[in-house]
Amino acid sequence: MFTGIFSGGVVKRALDRDVLRIEVHDLRDFTTDKHRQVDDRPFGGLEGMVLKPEPIFRAVEAVRQDGGSKVYLLSPQGRTLDAELARELAAERQIILICGRYEGVDERVAEHLADGEISIGDYVLSGGELAAAVVVDAAARFIPGVVGKEGSVRNDSFCGGILDYPQYTRPREFRGLKVPAVLFSGDHQKVERWRRTKALEKTARQRPDLVKPGALSPEDRKLLEKIPNERTNK
Ligand code: ADE
Repeated sequence: MFTGIFSGGVVKRALDRDVLRIEVHDLRDFTTDKHRQVDDRPFGGLEGMVLKPEPIFRAVEAVRQDGGSKVYLLSPQGRTLDAELARELAAERQIILICGRYEGVDERVAEHLADGEISIGDYVLSGGELAAAVVVDAAARFIPGVVGKEGSVRNDSFCGGILDYPQYTRPREFRGLKVPAVLFSGDHQKVERWRRTKALEKTARQRPDLVKPGALSPEDRKLLEKIPNERTNK
């Protein structure tokens, strides 16, 4: 599952530049029985299977490095991934992501092994693998030297608390749709002000929950006052 995802984009770049290392481990390699069984029936229930604690504890103990590693269980019950969490994860020496499967994971993993649980959103995936890949991709962007141009992470959506400004490329006109003229003005200040206005406008319209007046400059607040507070996508 991981080979394809990690062989492109930001993660590949981080791997190529030797600023990130990824290991994928199979829980079955940490079983001790003939059938290499990683799951079992739940106590007190009839349906489904639950991942057993022993292979998970053993796997984490085997791969954990001395001197600082953080262990997270991917689960819909966790702290929701956002740019702040991605940045925190990128600063760790080693993170161990435990991918849940089947109906659940023995609770002793979350309670006594993991430092925390991470969710990538309020929906249930069939396993933690896709979620782990999302976490790695989002965190890799914050490893110094991974994202090409200085400042491009800083300008990303959510960095600085608001969404990204709109981008355009050639042609200047496509099916009658024109690129805003300000972008050809050559006036950097004007372009910056336009971008900031558009970013604020988009955030106010589409994600008003992100707009925290305390975090905005007086100029931003002035720009925002002119923007109607409406949601276009709900
Ligand atoms: N495993 C199943 N659903 C998940 C989610 N939403 N986030 C993280 N891990 C999960």
